[in-house]
Amino acid sequence: MSISLAGKSAIVTGAAVGIGPAYAEALAAEGVNVAVCDIREEILELPAKLKAQGVKALGWVADVSKPDDVRQVVDGAVEAFGGIDILISNAGKCWVSLPDDDLDKALADYEGMVGTNLKGEYLMGRAVIAELLKQGRGGDIVNVATDHMVTCGSPFELCPKLEACTWKDAPRPTGGGEVMDLYDASKWGLNGFLFGWAKALRSHGIRVNAMCMGATDSWMIRDFYGYPQSRDKENEEQAEEVATWMAKEDTAQVVVNLLKEGPEGRTAQNINLCVGRPTVLEPPLPNKYITEESLNGSA
Ligand SMILES: NC(=O)c1ccc[n+]([C@@H]2O[C@H](COP(=O)([O-])OP(=O)(O)OC[C@H]3O[C@@H](n4cnc5c(N)ncnc54)[C@H](O)[C@@H]3O)[C@@H](O)[C@H]2O)c1
Repeated sequence: MSISLAGKSAIVTGAAVGIGPAYAEALAAEGVNVAVCDIREEILELPAKLKAQGVKALGWVADVSKPDDVRQVVDGAVEAFGGIDILISNAGKCWVSLPDDDLDKALADYEGMVGTNLKGEYLMGRAVIAELLKQGRGGDIVNVATDHMVTCGSPFELCPKLEACTWKDAPRPTGGGEVMDLYDASKWGLNGFLFGWAKALRSHGIRVNAMCMGATDSWMIRDFYGYPQSRDKENEEQAEEVATWMAKEDTAQVVVNLLKEGPEGRTAQNINLCVGRPTVLEPPLPNKYITEESLNGSA
């Protein structure tokens, strides 16, 4: 089943650079009104582009880790659009953290990465869920996580080695490796919201899913690898590596297709989009971390 998204309203966080603007544009292309926010000033340029796609749009310089900013975005979207149906919690931060970093860096990293990736998705989720429940017409929460927590299609079921897989010794181990403990922890923490919210909200027609993203061409990944932000400045080796990454427009289309499943669609799913898999919405997996009974409120 595929529903129309036209006339619905969405919030996309972290939409100034990277994958976020692609989510906003893909939603606008479906006729969805879109409110966007980011800590970067460039966010203020996006609403005009979205309006040119024929929808209502507005944007704020706002930090998802700050409750007042979250309130401003959610209240502003509800007031401007008359309600809210979709939250794409995309804002994220990622840089190297090491187990033996000194405590000053450890704390700054915690506030930066956990503050945005976990606290930000928590605050935005809480604020939007309250509105969705008040409206009583269902809705969708999509948290953006990482493929570090769903190694090769798991939990519990490993992906068969796909022809296209670039990981030499698939299945690859879980986690981003030894330089990303905090980033991974912040994203693993999202499982608590995924399962808790999905169970609590299913009976209200609200679905909660997470995009477990693999390498996708964005500001963040280029910054992480020390690559130039512009394609025409890449050397040959960098261009070869970039060519293996997913395109943000494709990952955005997967989210649109997820939303088009409507209220009867999947919930509580970590949707794996890793390099080497086709960038498409694959059929839902059986729920293994939580039972169908608990999702249906009977356990
Ligand atoms: N690109 C990838 O390969 C990849 C892989 C796995 C997961 N992800 C996740 O996808 C999401 C988007 O990543 P991206 O690659 O587009 O990153 P990006 O850095 O290119 O874009 C992220 C955007 O979020 C904004 N942002 C950061 N902190 C914020 C805050 N506190 N409040 C509001 N806005 C904030 C940034 O300013 C930026 O515009 C992130 O959650 C990231 O962890 C990306």
